[in-house]
This record gives sequence, structure tokens and C-alpha cells, in this order.
Amino acid sequence: MQIIERIHEMRSWSETQRCQGRRLVLVPTMGFLHEGHLSLVCDARKRGDQVVVSIFVNPAQFAPQEDFAAYPRDFERDRQLLQKERVDVLFHPSVDEIYPEGYQTQIKVERLSVPLCGVVRPGHFRGVATVVAKLLNIVRPHVAVFGRKDYQQLQVIRRLVADLNYDIEIVGHPTVREADGLALSSRNVYLNAEGRKAALCLSRSLGLAESLARQGEKRGKAIVDAVQAEIGKEPLAKMEYVILCDPETLQEVDRIDQDAVLALAVSIGKARLIDNTVIKP
Ligand code: PAJ
Repeated sequence: MQIIERIHEMRSWSETQRCQGRRLVLVPTMGFLHEGHLSLVCDARKRGDQVVVSIFVNPAQFAPQEDFAAYPRDFERDRQLLQKERVDVLFHPSVDEIYPEGYQTQIKVERLSVPLCGVVRPGHFRGVATVVAKLLNIVRPHVAVFGRKDYQQLQVIRRLVADLNYDIEIVGHPTVREADGLALSSRNVYLNAEGRKAALCLSRSLGLAESLARQGEKRGKAIVDAVQAEIGKEPLAKMEYVILCDPETLQEVDRIDQDAVLALAVSIGKARLIDNTVIKP
């Protein structure tokens, strides 16, 4: 596995591979890798000839009061994990490499960035869209793989790629969970033993919503109320939002006549956790 830190080297590697007719797949991450990330890497391997994983904790997507400095990092462990997965290139640029002195361009995906996480994290998706646009330009993959766990992020990226005419296939990979249902996240390290147990209220309440829909419940409010009540039973959980929305526009829906996404954000101690599921009519 090659480790590349400089943009010009990443570009020239890509250019060489492309000239040789190879199909390149990119998996962007912020590191501190877990099985969810590695599952994206496995998926990537099946979709092309060469896999590039980027590790870059992107300061532009953290607000000043958020956890940029504290965000967990372990480059050596990540490197070993990716080596084992037979990743071809680990792209690991510095902050100065990505945002040099004088940097001032931002990409804003207007409407999709507003609801859900956009309410509490204004500017977050602008940071995500900007860095992903840059990574796609630097690595020039044919395919890029993202997790559906970050559902709004995936939609923002799909929109960005369509709107700016990137000739890149965006793949949404299913959420990888622990055996007990908790969605894997780098931020799960912020949970202590009690918080870890409390965090099960996210997947449990999503399961409840799915089963209500299976029993024929079509009223969005009934489903959202049931989910809120389930999370409300967990004293350590601080609910941020529970929203049933259209899978593409992310606008709230009040009836389930076609697929809808139930998305939620809950804080448990220092950990802000998100999860979602598709509710079928
Ligand atoms: P990060 O949180 O490191 O996640 C990297 C990728 O892994 C994202 O596409 C995310 O959706 C996916 N992922 C995380 N947990 C997952 C899980 N349990 N199951 C499946 N996929 C999972 O998301 C980011 O980094 C950044 O915002 C980034 C896109 C890299 C831009 O900075």
C-alpha cells in the first residue's frame, strides 16, 4: 500500500492508472476506522481495480464548538487495517495541503443542507461538500463509496455530483451495526458503559417504527410519536430530532404512501449519534 500525502503525487498516480485503463474507487473517511469503514472498502474492491482510501479530518465541517481537536485519531492503526484490506493507496493530506493560505472557496448544496442535522450544524454540509468536491477532483475516481448511515450527507453528495457534472458513480453502502444493533461510528468511543447501553435506544426505536409500518401504520405522526416515546424512556438520551422524510428531498412527509426515511439524532453524554432507516409502506 502506497501512502500519499501530496496532491500532485495523488494526481499523477491517478493519471497513470487511468491511462492504463484501470477503474479507480475512492472511499473518503476521517479515519479512526471501524468495521463500517472496512465494509465500504470491501465494497469498493468489488467495484474497480484500484482502491484509494482517504483519511482527512476535515476542519471545515466542524463548528468552532465541535469536536475537531478531540476527534479520535490513530493513523498507525488505520494504516495497518487498510494494509490488511489490500488497499492500493492511502491518501493522507495535511490540513495545509487541502486548505492552503488564501483558500476561500466553498460549495453549498442549498436545500438538502438545511433540515435534519443542518439545523443544529449550520455550515457542516458546506464543509462536507467542499472537501468531497476537492477529494473527487484530486483523486479522480470512477466510483466513490459512502455509507447510508450518514443519509443526509449521502444525499448532499449525490446532489453535488449531479449538479456539478462529475462523471463519477456514487454508491450508498448499507449501515454496518454491532450485533446488538448500534450503528458503528468513530464517535462511539465517547460512550461509557452506561452510555453504550443507552445508545441502543436509537436502533430499538427504528425497529419499532419499521414494525409499526409493517403492521399497516401509514400516519407519519403516529410513527414519529412512537419513536420519540421510545427514546424518551431512556434517561441518558437527549433527543435532537426524529423526522420522517422523503428519501430524496429530505422534506418531511406525513403519510407513508411510498418509501420514507426515518432519521434521528440523539446525544448521549458527549456523543452525538445519528441513525436512520427506510420505512416501506
Ligand atoms: P467518516 O465519519 O469517517 O465516515 C466515512 C464513511 O464511512 C462515510 O461515507 C460514512 O457514511 C461511512 N460510515 C460510517 N459509519 C458507518 C457504518 N456504521 N456503516 C456504513 N458506513 C459507515 O463521513 C465522513 O467521515 C466525512 O464526512 C467525509 C465524507 C469523509 C468528508 O469529510
